[in-house]
Amino acid sequence: MIAQGISGLMRPLLNGLNVSKTRFIYHSRVAEQNHMLPKLQSERGFSSTKKLQDGPGESSSADQVMVHFINRDGEKLTATAKEGETLLEVVVNQNLAIDGFGACEGTLACSTCHLIFERDVFQKLDAISDDEMDMLDLAYGLTETSRLGCQVCIKKSMDGLTVQVPMEVSDIRRQLEVGKQSKQ
Ligand code: FES
Repeated sequence: MIAQGISGLMRPLLNGLNVSKTRFIYHSRVAEQNHMLPKLQSERGFSSTKKLQDGPGESSSADQVMVHFINRDGEKLTATAKEGETLLEVVVNQNLAIDGFGACEGTLACSTCHLIFERDVFQKLDAISDDEMDMLDLAYGLTETSRLGCQVCIKKSMDGLTVQVPMEVSDIRRQLEVGKQSKQ
């Protein structure tokens, strides 16, 4: 009887302890999960952040465009270009063996970067400036689809572009020098 009385008194206390124990375990687990969440997020941030994988200044293959140059001897030179680069920069940066190409380094003074485009590509190029037009007029082997490589920037839509390097090349600066000397 006394034992039953004690057990009757102890039961709510023990039940209370069990509830507290259960709550303690529950709260511990929640706290543990909440603690792990930022950790997982930060780990994910480091492992899948594109910028960190690529490194500063590097571009992924998604930004690269394949360009082909048909050289004067008929050889096909293929280069990977970055969006925004000019065709002159592609030739220089990739060390393509195109003789005398880009003599004035893109200052619109030589026309040695003359390139011939396929008509459908040519029609989609940015508008030609008066200065480029003036310089093109002096280029050898001018065609209706000629442009200067130092004035044409790569776009993603140009992937697979093929341009022809004209057979003849003229550095307008040399012609002008010769003209000056002959007048003296
Ligand atoms: Fe001279 Fe283009 S590099 S005009």
